[in-house]
This record gives sequence, structure tokens and C-alpha cells, in this order.
Amino acid sequence: MTAKERFYVTTPIYYPSDNLHIGHAYTTTVADSLARWHRFAGRDVYFVTGSDEHGQKIQRAAEAKGVTPKEYVDVIVASFKELWAKLNVEYDDFIRTTDERHHRAVQAVFQKIYAKGDIYKSAYEGWYCTPCETFWLENRLVEGNCPDCGRPVELVQEESYFFRLSKYADRLLQYIEEHPEFIQPETRRNEMVNFIKSGLEDLCVSRTTFNWGIPVPMAEGHVIYVWFDALTNYLTALGYPEPNEKLEKWWPADLHLVGKEIMRFHTIVWPIMLMALDLPLPKTVFGHGWLLFDSEKMSKSKGNVVDPMLLIEEFGVDPIRYFLLREISFGQDGNFSRRALIERTNADLANDLGNLLNRTLSMLNRYFAGVVPQPAAAPNAVDQDLIDYARSLGPKVDSLVKELKINEALASIWRLVGKANKYVDERAPWNLAKQENKDELGTVMYNLLETLRIVALLVKSFIPETGAKIWAQLGLEGIGEKSLADTAWGLLEPGTQTRKGDPIFPRIEVEKEEAPKEQPKQPKVEKAEPAQPEGVLIGIEDFMKCELVVAEVLEAAPVKGADRLLKLQVDVGAEKRQIVAGIAQHYKPEELVGRRIIVVKNLKPAKLRGELSQGMLLAATAPDGRLEVVSVSAAIPAGSRVK
Ligand code: MSP
Repeated sequence: MTAKERFYVTTPIYYPSDNLHIGHAYTTTVADSLARWHRFAGRDVYFVTGSDEHGQKIQRAAEAKGVTPKEYVDVIVASFKELWAKLNVEYDDFIRTTDERHHRAVQAVFQKIYAKGDIYKSAYEGWYCTPCETFWLENRLVEGNCPDCGRPVELVQEESYFFRLSKYADRLLQYIEEHPEFIQPETRRNEMVNFIKSGLEDLCVSRTTFNWGIPVPMAEGHVIYVWFDALTNYLTALGYPEPNEKLEKWWPADLHLVGKEIMRFHTIVWPIMLMALDLPLPKTVFGHGWLLFDSEKMSKSKGNVVDPMLLIEEFGVDPIRYFLLREISFGQDGNFSRRALIERTNADLANDLGNLLNRTLSMLNRYFAGVVPQPAAAPNAVDQDLIDYARSLGPKVDSLVKELKINEALASIWRLVGKANKYVDERAPWNLAKQENKDELGTVMYNLLETLRIVALLVKSFIPETGAKIWAQLGLEGIGEKSLADTAWGLLEPGTQTRKGDPIFPRIEVEKEEAPKEQPKQPKVEKAEPAQPEGVLIGIEDFMKCELVVAEVLEAAPVKGADRLLKLQVDVGAEKRQIVAGIAQHYKPEELVGRRIIVVKNLKPAKLRGELSQGMLLAATAPDGRLEVVSVSAAIPAGSRVK
């Protein structure tokens, strides 16, 4: 038997200087979803998070409150754990840097590197940013402030221990070059390479002007620099320094998930510490983007933080998890707003998924007394299209998750949900019931229920409560034991008694106090055709003047400087065309690729923001202002006339 693939994933350990905000919840939700997915896919998973409790920032915060640092952090760390429980985050270990086991690990690391001659004593004179716990050379400051957070820095003059980063610079550069998967995404790799090439100074790794930290083993009065201390947590979780099975099994880590602002520590300081310890480097450090609020990074000092606990209480946990995972292109910055959260929840969870479950089970109650029927009739082309997509989805989501394309993975699952909703309309079970065509009706209902079963399995790593709720309404048990292999088509047993319940996502009413939603503006074309006055009847010959055809979307991309426009390359039947459409606020480019949409082929070409548009796509507007592009199944070839 081959050994199980393994996956060791970590989040940063957060500072308990204050409560966590939705930005912190973002990293941890991603890590939890990855851990759950890999487990579901049959891999052995170890998921570690924790709290970074030492340092000057915490000591000062505690002093300001008149309590000891330990008393101060104990309260906040308890709130971290409460948040993770509310968010359904299931970690395997939680490292507190005040744990005894962590002290041992950090002192052992310090001692080993010192014994090797890579830590030495000298005098430090330079600048320090306490909120970031970062040393800065004068020439890196921006207008005398911290180049990362813009806040004032303090002059530090101390006798300190230094870590020879400079000695390892070339070796690290070579490693990065030979292991392109080590620093991701690529833009961050380039930033890090440039940073190293601009020259690495030895790093000050001890402080003497405060005492809230782990003592330097060979010198009284010195505490170990908080980042040197914190990074070691990834080894503490494996029982370092004692040689043991855990360390053997799990090191090197597969993935350190971190925000982009702490990439330098994770891709320069940490790997050099590991090189000095003769340990292998983590396989990947992924630097994700920030959650922005009004285009600014969310942070306590800017006063624009959003409390995830309150959001969970108000909306429930899965809308928050879904929003974070789906809305933000992993690796890039993304905006948070209540409105976007409500719109996402209403569109994807209430309308698309919730409604599919609800209408399917209502019809099943009506036509089959809620019991899963036999798929007695052979599938036709429309059935087969749904079955083929559903069948291929498990492995597809697995590859997307492995590539850390989490939002794309969710988009591909929602494509199945969309297909199933369209399938209901196309196969119109109510007509089959009228015709008393029980065999075909049975097949259609079975296909819908089986799709929902597969969807429940595919979503459960990302939105665990929803997966379980769908499963229960389908009358099934034991979703926790199911694996990726169970997403194969046809495992739903005919004869199962379903249990329709309340809608899993009631629609959220947009608050009255909010400004009315901006209607999607139609892109301005250079010469608009006069609109047909309403109520005027046209003859068929007028309608036939409009050449509507099926077009396959080959590529889709944003238009520079136009946040409403997408540029599509489409195949209209042996001819490639470019179409520019005002749908960027409703679709991500990747959601459109592969779709067969309907376009007006004989519309006069126009230029939109300098881009040629050779046709127009059809779309309908939902009552909430959301646009839905009209499309047909893959059974209809590109170029087919629509009339
Ligand atoms: N204690 C260090 C990490 C040590 S890891 C060995 C630290 N802690 S922190 O509390 O400031 O949390 C930083 C992490 O929180 C970021 O790396 C990122 O993962 C997350 N985020 C904080 N604000 C964020 C946003 N606004 N958006 C997304 N992630 C954010 O740095």
C-alpha cells in the first residue's frame, strides 16, 4: 500500500494585542477549508494555528490596562478560540508562544544557531516599529516612518545578538530559483527576490529594554526577538527539539498561509533559520492579499475593522465563510462590504443553491411522496450534459484546491448549481407529471437529487453547515465519513425517504437605510440605436432581422480602467469575435469561459473604452439588480441560430 499523501498547513499566529477582525478570519477560514478538503480527498492533514504573545507591543498594551502581560493575553486568546469555534474552524493544535513546550523549542533553536556561529553578539543602533515588531535601517524608512504601516518608529540602541542572514543570501536565492513553488504567487516571489538582491543585513534577534519574551539562553537580561520566537511555532507543533515521529512525519510543512505583509519574515528569515538548523524548507509559502474596507487595509489603527463575531451572529457562519472564499481572488486584495456580503448570500446561497434544494424537494413531495425514484428512463442529451458535468466535478475541484484557486473551485461548483436550475426549467418536471410520464419524471427527479447530493459533498469543506443541512434534507446520514470518491455519479439509493425542511438560506432584505442599489449601467456605445417604443408590436420579419446566435466564450478578461466592462473572445461558429459587455460586477472572467451564450451577431460594431465590440450578449436583470447572462447547454454548437 502506498503511504497516504500528507498536508501540513499553518496560519500565522496572531497577536493577542486586540480582538481579531474579519481580515484575520479570512486567513484562518482559507486554512480550515483547505484542511477539510484535503482530509475529504483522503489525505492525512495536520492544521496548526495559534497566538503570538510576546514582545513590546503586548507588554505595552498590558501596562496600559494595568495588568500583567499574561493576564492580558489569556483573555484575548480565549476570544480567539471562541471565534474559531464559531467559525467552525477545526485545528489540530493551537500554539501559544507562552506554552512551556514553545519556550523549549525557541531556546533550542537559538542555542543551535549560536553554537554554529551564526548568531553573534554586537551593538545595535537603529529604528524599531513596535506595532509591526520590525527593525528598520534608516535608509528603508519612508519620511522617517515605518515603510510597512506608516507609523512612527523608535530609535533603539542596545547590546544585542545578531543572526547572520547575509551569509545565507546566495544560498536562499539559488533555492528560490530552483523551487518556483516555494514562494507564491509569482508577484510576491519577484518582490522577495528583489528584496534579497538589494542586500541582506544581519538581523538583530534579541532585546534588552523590556522583558516580556523568552530569555536568551546564554545571556541574562536579553529576550529573544519576537519574530524569531514566533516563526519557531511551526516546529513547536511537531514536538521540536526532541526527535520524534511527528517531526519525521510532518516536516517540512506543505503550506504556510500568510498575509502579504509578513512574507519577508516567512520567505527570508524563516528559511534562513531552517538552513542554519539543517532542516528542509517548507514546500510553499503563499502570501495572500488583504481584505480592504473602502479600498484601505482593515486595521484597528484606521478604525475600519469589522468584527467577525457580530457578522456571524447576524448572518450565520456559512454566508461569512462563503463570502470570504468566493468573493476574493485568492492572492489578490478584495473588498469587504455588508452590501457585497448580502448580495453574494442572496444570489448564490439563497437564490441558486437554497432554491434548487427547495424546489426539488417540493416537486419530489408532490410527485413521489418525497421518496427518491428510480431513474427508469435512459438519459437524453440534456440529462447527459448535467450528469457529465456533475461526474467530472470532484476531481476538477480537487485540482483547483491543490493549485490554491479556491474561488475558482467554488465557481465551478456553482456552475453545477446553475446548470441544475436551468435543467429544471428545460426538463419541466411539471409537464412530465401532466403527461403522466413517470419513467422520465423519475429520471429527471433522480438527476436533480443526485446533483444535490454531490453538491452537498463538494461544498462541505467550505461551508460545513450547509453541506450537512442539504444532506439531512436528502434523508441521508453520515456525511462526515464521506470522501471525494463518494462524489461519483449514481450513489443515491432509490427508495430513500427525503425530509424537506425550511429554506436553508432565507433571503436577506437589504437594509432600508442603504442607498438604492446602483442600476448596472449599460456601456455607452458611440452611436446608440433609437430604442423601440414599448407596446409597439413588430412582425416576425422585424424580429428575424436580428441575427441571434450561440457563441462559445473562449476567453474573458477585464478592460483596463473600466470596472464594469469585460472583454470576451467568442466563437460564433467558425469565426472569432470580440464582445465588450457591462457585466464585470456580476461575473468573474473565469466564470464565463466555456459558457455558450447568446449574442446579437449583426449589431454594428462599436468601440467601448477603446476596445472593439463586434456584437452584444443577452442578459436578464434580476429584481435585486443582478445580471444573468443567457446561455444554453453544451449540446448546442457555437454558431447555431436562436429564434
Ligand atoms: N504575529 C504575527 C505573525 C507571526 S507568524 C509566525 C502577525 N500577527 S497579526 O495578528 O498581525 O496577524 C497577521 C495576519 O493576519 C496576516 O498575515 C494576515 O494573515 C491576517 N490579516 C490581518 N489583516 C488582514 C486583512 N485586512 N486582510 C487579510 N488578512 C489580514 O503578523
